Amino acid sequence: MSIKHVTVIGAGQMGSGIAQVFAQSGFEVTVLDQQEAFVQKGLSSIEKNLARQVEKGRSTQEEIDSILSRVTGTTDLKMAATKADLVVEAIIEQMEAKVSLFQQLDELCPAHTVLASNTSSLPITEIAAVTKRPEKVIGMHFMNPVPVMKLVEIIRGLATDQETYDLVEQLSRELGKHPVEVNDFPGFVSNRILMPMINEAIYTVYEGVATPEAVDDVMKLGMNHPMGPLTLADFIGLDTCLYIMETLHEGFGDSKYRPCPLLRKYVKAGWLGRKSGRGFYVYK
Ligand code: CAA
Ligand code: NAD
Repeated sequence: MSIKHVTVIGAGQMGSGIAQVFAQSGFEVTVLDQQEAFVQKGLSSIEKNLARQVEKGRSTQEEIDSILSRVTGTTDLKMAATKADLVVEAIIEQMEAKVSLFQQLDELCPAHTVLASNTSSLPITEIAAVTKRPEKVIGMHFMNPVPVMKLVEIIRGLATDQETYDLVEQLSRELGKHPVEVNDFPGFVSNRILMPMINEAIYTVYEGVATPEAVDDVMKLGMNHPMGPLTLADFIGLDTCLYIMETLHEGFGDSKYRPCPLLRKYVKAGWLGRKSGRGFYVYK
């Protein structure tokens, strides 16, 4: 099957990055969010990223204009679904929201449309089960920031067929990414390993072992991580970090995955990290 039109649902930091890389690779892209203001924020983030490429002399203004002409923003789900050959969902990391959206997409999209989720941790099999096309539902997990990070984790649900897997693997390569196949277990590989480290870093602050700056310095200067775990948590979004820990905790039933109470407290306070202006650090 040939993919011409990609619809990305959710114009947040992941959705806008995913829309950008598909448009850069020549696909027609529609990016949708719940409110026009969120759509515009996503589009302006794509414009800023691409403008940097011109400033750095890596692209011409004509090339950027051509990429931008392939991206359309909307809040109209029916319109966005009807023309999609592939949907990549990048909304909030909560099962109820994903399931409700996939039910609607299943009703609205043409029969050939593949439905992919960018979920960080939630079971693809459970999302697929609410549709009448579970063989065409798959996990396509990009890393943040999408234009920079090479990995795409590809997750088959129990019913995902080989044609759908091959298509998404081939598309990932066309985007210049490196696909890695993993099985459908909570957190897959990436967040089963990354998120407990971030949660443990939060516990070290919670228990007064060290300040956020000290924890980050240890991991940056001692382990050569590009960002300390608390800077990275703020970058990912503390709400997303909490939802992922909850999925690991519930999915494995093991207390080693319990989310740190300080993480819960920050999320309840609306301290979601970089995107809300405050998390472990303050952003102006
Ligand atoms: N969007 C697009 N491009 C970005 C960007 C963003 N948000 N942030 C940085 N970049 C680009 C810069 O433009 C720059 O591009 P060029 O090299 O082409 O000029 C490049 O990235 C490097 O940026 P900087 O020099 O400003 O900064 P840096 O060297 O510190 O790199 C970083 C920034 C790539 C983000 C680096 O700090 C890093 O790798 N951090 C860790 C990121 C990480 O771990 N991501 C995974 C998160 S977990 C996840 O995604 C899964 C999940 O489900 C939660
Ligand atoms: P975000 O908060 O930046 O953006 C989410 C966007 O989805 C918001 O603009 C919101 O308005 C929109 N949205 C919520 N419900 C919607 C709905 N029903 N219909 C349309 N739009 C809706 O979040 P994000 O960081 O972009 O994360 C999105 C998804 O990507 C999550 O599943 C997350 O786990 C996953 N993910 C995140 C990262 C990361 O580092 N942040 C990395 C990989 C995967």
